[in-house]
Amino acid sequence: MAEDLDSEKLLAATAAVRHVKSGMRLALGTGSTAAFAVRALVQRFPDGGGITAVASSMLTERLARELGLNVGPLLPSDRFDLMIDGADEVAPTLDLTKGGGGALFREKFLARLSRELLILVDHTKLVPTLGTRSAIPIEVVPFARGVIVEQLRERRVASAVRVAPGGEHPFVTDNGNEILDLRPSWPVTDPSGLDQELRAIPGVVETGLFCGLAHRVFVGLPDGTVQEILPSHPSRAGS
Ligand code: 5RP
Repeated sequence: MAEDLDSEKLLAATAAVRHVKSGMRLALGTGSTAAFAVRALVQRFPDGGGITAVASSMLTERLARELGLNVGPLLPSDRFDLMIDGADEVAPTLDLTKGGGGALFREKFLARLSRELLILVDHTKLVPTLGTRSAIPIEVVPFARGVIVEQLRERRVASAVRVAPGGEHPFVTDNGNEILDLRPSWPVTDPSGLDQELRAIPGVVETGLFCGLAHRVFVGLPDGTVQEILPSHPSRAGS
């Protein structure tokens, strides 16, 4: 029988949205699970609840606006009470791989400005080691892409340029950049070290490795329950 992952995403999203209170300022993630959360938010606060939000992508911004949420631009002194987002992989340390939807730069930028990052996933996203279920995306400046690919190859990291739907052109992020999907030839046992190493390559704007950022992960399970995972390491960004 096919797994009903959408039901698991909805369960996780509904559980996470219970943490939202009236008047909060929120950062909204991107992807199918984040979209469930946006819908759950509107259901929980049909009159808006005085909530204001900044979205991590044009896609999420459009959806949130269509549903009547008060979404606006990022302000110079912005801080968020909560960020609600999905992930492509969740390690036991709560380090994450994100960027399957190509919004990794804005997602990470907003996550760093948030007091709490709540991550919502279906059970298939739990992995023992990052990079085993999905590739690790990085956002790169298009001009530099060829050089970056070569520098990655020298580090034994295979990369593929992400293509836009239709398959003819590179995918272009909301920031006008491109995405390389990386497959390191070794197990990613030190995601934080890899994140730093990749970000040090000129032309790399950001990586999809989110280390030490998630405060709580909600996992929708096939039996209809939600598992809530807290980090064993107490210090998270923004705490
Ligand atoms: C977008 C992301 C998404 O959160 C991630 O790809 C998970 O997406 P989905 O909820 O559709 O499985 O990082 O950049």
